[in-house]
Amino acid sequence: MKNLDEKYMKECFKLAIKGNGKVSPNPMVGCVVLDKTGNIVSKGYHKKYGENHAERDALLKLKHNEAEGGTLYVNLEPCSHYGKTPPCVDLIIEHKLARVVFAMRDPNPKVNGLSKLKKAGIKVTEGVLEEEAKFLNRIFIKNITRELPYVVLKTATTMDGKIASSNGDSKWITSDKARAEVYKMRKSFDCIMTSSNTVLADNPNMVHKFKCVLDKDSKVPKSANIFKQGEVFIANSQNTPIKNNRLDLEHVLKELYKKGISSVFVECGGTLAGALLKEGLIDEIYQFIAPKIFNDNSGQSCFNADIKNTISECVNLKIYDIKFFEPDLLIKSLV
Ligand SMILES: NC(=O)c1ccc[n+]([C@@H]2O[C@H](COP(=O)([O-])OP(=O)(O)OC[C@H]3O[C@@H](n4cnc5c(N)ncnc54)[C@H](OP(=O)(O)O)[C@@H]3O)[C@@H](O)[C@H]2O)c1
Repeated sequence: MKNLDEKYMKECFKLAIKGNGKVSPNPMVGCVVLDKTGNIVSKGYHKKYGENHAERDALLKLKHNEAEGGTLYVNLEPCSHYGKTPPCVDLIIEHKLARVVFAMRDPNPKVNGLSKLKKAGIKVTEGVLEEEAKFLNRIFIKNITRELPYVVLKTATTMDGKIASSNGDSKWITSDKARAEVYKMRKSFDCIMTSSNTVLADNPNMVHKFKCVLDKDSKVPKSANIFKQGEVFIANSQNTPIKNNRLDLEHVLKELYKKGISSVFVECGGTLAGALLKEGLIDEIYQFIAPKIFNDNSGQSCFNADIKNTISECVNLKIYDIKFFEPDLLIKSLV
């Protein structure tokens, strides 16, 4: 049973991923329905924000009572409340499923599908491939539990961890291939965040529908390329509280979340990257590493917030993906 449950849950993950980039701020969810003899009779997934949830998508495809006495697999606890669509639990009960298997509970406190299913006499198995399910919907979980956007910091470094030479030369550390990948990555985030220093040093375009520039004293001129396209929110001392003489970074992120931003891609130098890391505001790091060495201790480091005296003071990461964009390497880590 455990192997079969895991097999169908993996199928749910595959279906769920089809909604990537289209369902935010909702989670990605997939569903597989078996009849009482164990044959798959329907599959579904959450296709677009505001449209049917995965369970509804799968169950509404059924013409008759094929699901009666069967099992429904879904990677997130079925919803029990009225949102943009009616509760999925009601439809599951209507279809007389005998068993529901889900991977993780919904962190949304409005959802209590588990007890509603149990009350209806449906057998529930929860926690199947729970860690994988949480990883899949890590953005949604962060949004709901912390009311903050999910933050990914991108950095492009030499092999000795430098993002620019001591005099600020940084064009280009990585290759065309790696930079093309960055352009693609940007599209899967709701916002790009950068700093006054980076805009003044590099004058980047950062083509995106929504950008945030941290610029306490409004130093960035309106003629900068960053303003040429998309909406730009300037966080400055007029609209953001000051903490230790700097903009309060958590406050900026909270404001972005209130504006409907679920995920932020940060592209900046070592000062801001170091400050975000020190304050525990980064969820993931995408580090491109070029096969280059500055061999100069005064080159600019990718994280530069404070002095640590022991290895035990390091921030420890969990690498979960490594890709080659020849000749560069991309390492993705969870913080
Ligand atoms: N290789 C790469 O991946 C990459 C990417 C981007 C940039 N770069 C390079 O990085 C260099 C710039 O790096 P940098 O270290 O000078 O600047 P940075 O890290 O990009 O930005 C620092 C600025 O962020 C703003 N900031 C707002 N809130 C902050 C806070 N709480 N703590 C710290 N900073 C805060 C401050 O400007 P305000 O006081 O104006 O608010 C601060 O001066 C450039 O040479 C650029 O080419 C490299």
